[in-house]
Amino acid sequence: MAHQSDLIATDIQAYLKAQEEKSMLRFITCGSVDDGKSTLIGRLLWDSKLIFEDQLASLEADSKRVGTQGEEIDYALLLDGLQAEREQGITIDVAYRFFSTDKRKFIVADTPGHEQYTRNMVTGASTADVAVILIDARKGVLTQTKRHSYLVSLVGIRKVVVAINKMDLVDYAESVFDTIRDDYEQFAEQLGFEEITFIPISALKGDNIIDPGPHTHWYHGPMLMSYLETVKVDTGATNRPFRMPVQWVNRPNLDFRGFCGTIASGSIAPGDEVVVPSSGQTSRVKSIVTMDGELEEAIAGQAVTLTLEDEIDVSRGDLLSAAGDRPDFADQFEARLVWMHEEPLLPGRSYLLKTGAQTIPVQVSGLKYKVNVNTLEHQAGKTLQLNEIGICNFSLGNPVAFDPYRENRATGNFILIDRMTNATVGAGMIDFALRRATNIHWQAVEVDKKSRSMMKDQKPCVLWFTGLSGAGKSTIANLVEKKMRSLGKHTYLLDGDNVRHGLNRDLGFTDADRVENIRRVGEAAKLFVDAGIIVLVSFISPFRSERDMAREMVEAGEFYEVYVNTPLEVCEQRDPKGLYKKARAGELKNFTGIDSTYEEPESPEIVVNAAEASAEELAEQIVQQVLKEDSSLNFTDGTER
Ligand code: ADX
Repeated sequence: MAHQSDLIATDIQAYLKAQEEKSMLRFITCGSVDDGKSTLIGRLLWDSKLIFEDQLASLEADSKRVGTQGEEIDYALLLDGLQAEREQGITIDVAYRFFSTDKRKFIVADTPGHEQYTRNMVTGASTADVAVILIDARKGVLTQTKRHSYLVSLVGIRKVVVAINKMDLVDYAESVFDTIRDDYEQFAEQLGFEEITFIPISALKGDNIIDPGPHTHWYHGPMLMSYLETVKVDTGATNRPFRMPVQWVNRPNLDFRGFCGTIASGSIAPGDEVVVPSSGQTSRVKSIVTMDGELEEAIAGQAVTLTLEDEIDVSRGDLLSAAGDRPDFADQFEARLVWMHEEPLLPGRSYLLKTGAQTIPVQVSGLKYKVNVNTLEHQAGKTLQLNEIGICNFSLGNPVAFDPYRENRATGNFILIDRMTNATVGAGMIDFALRRATNIHWQAVEVDKKSRSMMKDQKPCVLWFTGLSGAGKSTIANLVEKKMRSLGKHTYLLDGDNVRHGLNRDLGFTDADRVENIRRVGEAAKLFVDAGIIVLVSFISPFRSERDMAREMVEAGEFYEVYVNTPLEVCEQRDPKGLYKKARAGELKNFTGIDSTYEEPESPEIVVNAAEASAEELAEQIVQQVLKEDSSLNFTDGTER
């Protein structure tokens, strides 16, 4: 390895110590291949001489073979790691490069600049302190410059270098530089950057990267490298309030109870007062325990175990916080959401939200607007597609402690996870807590589900009929209801076509609307169960997620998923409403089984096939099964029935 430091050869210990003590800067470079981004990073690595010898040899060979610089070294090739990418001439994923100089260590995130890689850029930028935005001097501020700048501001980067590149191709003209600077400044006003530094460079020729270029005598600002070496960054260690998500409660014996985690922000010392936001209980830190003994102080980034002076309830997932500067604690908030998955966001769907050490069920209760990443315009929308950004309201299964992202990046971010596939589907930045539900409390009622059920002499439950259109759900459900009625049961039938005339008349048949359709019906079914009623629900309900959501809304044993498993061919042949015919003719879009999915139940309580027995027989089977369990109901507490 060819490194500039002679210490490696002469005093390795001194070299390693110096390395350890150097501060670290994380930055991201934004631009496209055409702007010379890879060339710039290649040049920074080259000039800091942290390039491995073997890389050097292959770089020279590659430069001659596929390089764009004739016999000279093509620095861009250093970056475009993968062969396939090289041949396509673009960089695909987030590549993190490490290099160092005498003054600092650097991690540079290199992400592709195209719009379809928005999620990669957001990922790369989310841990960066500084962004270097490249502008081609010949082209000026472009749509992509605006997009990159917006994304950088979105993830909370406050310091930006605008590197105006290819100055050699505009004869190092100061006027070109000035015009671009003025344009950019005007545009960036709305983004709230704290500091913008403009540097005229030529990544190719090396002007103003390390040393002043010979042609830009009119420029008196810093060189790019010296800027990066000296820019002050907020490490979150000192000037943010103390926050530590508890990863684990360590209780080896009755005498020791330690709370383990990595400090997300701020610092802590024995004697400091901390609060558990979920209970509001406070205590003081007794000791900070680490593998290497007890500490006088610990700061952001350190993994520690804290012991407290009092026995208070602290569990995994709690955010131990400075008592004098508490985080928000709410179950609703507004946040900016970057959608990262090919499957679009379905607002009514239940996802998992992971923040700190907590994972909580969540729904997007409203998509207020989307942001066009190119123009920054607000647009209406019902869903978010891959790489789209939306301002959304979130409603969580239980309250969570957090800080607004702009105040604390460490405790204001989250990811969304799909409950079925476990894939990360979105990344969010919390704006503020929504207080709207804080004055609404559960009203205690004296007449409860149990007394209502006993009065009706039945065990309330949901019979959830799912299956294709024309499968026979409604016919069977109708017969089941009649049979139950004749047995004196109190029932109600919620039927898709009917509910869509009233409660859900605003919903169509897109995936997002179907999700919302089922969410509402699930909520309605829950109310009927609470009323002591046996409720029959007959909806296609094509998605597993929402059927599971409906199941989770009621108590265990109260939900029967009845899969009316009639083959598509049979449904289509029957076609009671002539809808399959229309769908096949292309007159009806998003028709289930034709151009919209149906996810079969995985473990339904009851499966019936309408092609194999009469509706009458199937209804009888269902009634038998449900009432068998109903009759085993006994009210053993002596209450009069
Ligand atoms: S669900 O998918 O959201 O659960 P739901 O059960 O409410 O559907 O409504 C289905 C009924 O709407 C069908 O039985 C059919 O009569 C009618 N319908 C109209 N358009 C469609 C469509 N594109 N896909 C499915 N059903 C449709």
